Amino acid sequence: MPIPIVLDVDTGVDDAMAILFAVRHPGIDVLGISCVAGNAPLPQVVDNTLRILDAAGAPDLPVAAGAVRPLLEPPRAARHVHGPAGLGDLVLPPARREAVSTSAVELMRRLVLEHPTPVTLVALAPQTNLALLLRTYPEVAGNLERIVFMGGSASVGNATAVAEFNMWHDPEAAAIVLDSNVPAYMYGLDVFNRVAVDHEVAVALEHGDDPLGRVVGSLLGHRVALSEDERAEYTGLIGDAGAVCSLVDPLALRTEVRPVRVELAGYGRGQTLVDLRRLSRGESMVQAHPDEWTRVEVALEVDGERLARLFLDTLGLA
Ligand code: RIB
Ligand code: CA
Repeated sequence: MPIPIVLDVDTGVDDAMAILFAVRHPGIDVLGISCVAGNAPLPQVVDNTLRILDAAGAPDLPVAAGAVRPLLEPPRAARHVHGPAGLGDLVLPPARREAVSTSAVELMRRLVLEHPTPVTLVALAPQTNLALLLRTYPEVAGNLERIVFMGGSASVGNATAVAEFNMWHDPEAAAIVLDSNVPAYMYGLDVFNRVAVDHEVAVALEHGDDPLGRVVGSLLGHRVALSEDERAEYTGLIGDAGAVCSLVDPLALRTEVRPVRVELAGYGRGQTLVDLRRLSRGESMVQAHPDEWTRVEVALEVDGERLARLFLDTLGLA
């Protein structure tokens, strides 16, 4: 049986690749997609999502608009990373499909509660929609298999020195989601930054004959200003798509169940604190309030070549 999932996205160059992979993989059943402000403003996220579904030749599936901004912070679109329209240099034709008129929270609630088996929520964006869902309809947690989220880091950040973008954009939402006690799997920057497609492959796709290959090549080839002097660099990262790949090839990653908290104050705001210590019983007195930390399955290492190959194979681009 394919894994039933609801995707929460802020499309976004790498969300676009995640959507392409999810709707094309036979082991995944995308029940619907909820959109949230993040990489781009919400209307742009919804439009990009609809366009990429058309480009994928995806079946009709519900797409809903959600939160226009984080719970406390103003929206802070990452134009410097994803370009002014959110898809880098890629220009897709206007969407032939429309979003549903219900809100993301209502759509997620219906999809999860009506499904005969537990559903996996795959969160690839700031977790505002998820927090609103779990606060409005806590009973939804009863039919969730787990929450797989791209976010956080057990090492360095990207939005700040220590905070990853999705967590930093809405730290309160992330804290609410972690506190919900739904089993969680964290696909953070430690693995996100290790799954890439070679430059020559991306260039060949972008300039090749396959329409889907041209879309993927353009998304992969989008250059991001990473260095301090703002020179744009090729990364070839498949980004959020890697989190979706982990659903169907979990053995490509090494994970550990670790206590995790989201820092809400000061310079560390938005940081995921991942307790990697190996404490014996005798050392328990030095543990920091372990009951307040959530045990999360954290992906720490990945076979990047294996996931990149899975991504291209699934899209018929290998
Ligand atoms: O930090 C990377 C994450 O932030 C990805 O989900 C990307 O799409 C952005 O939302
Ligand atoms: Ca994203």
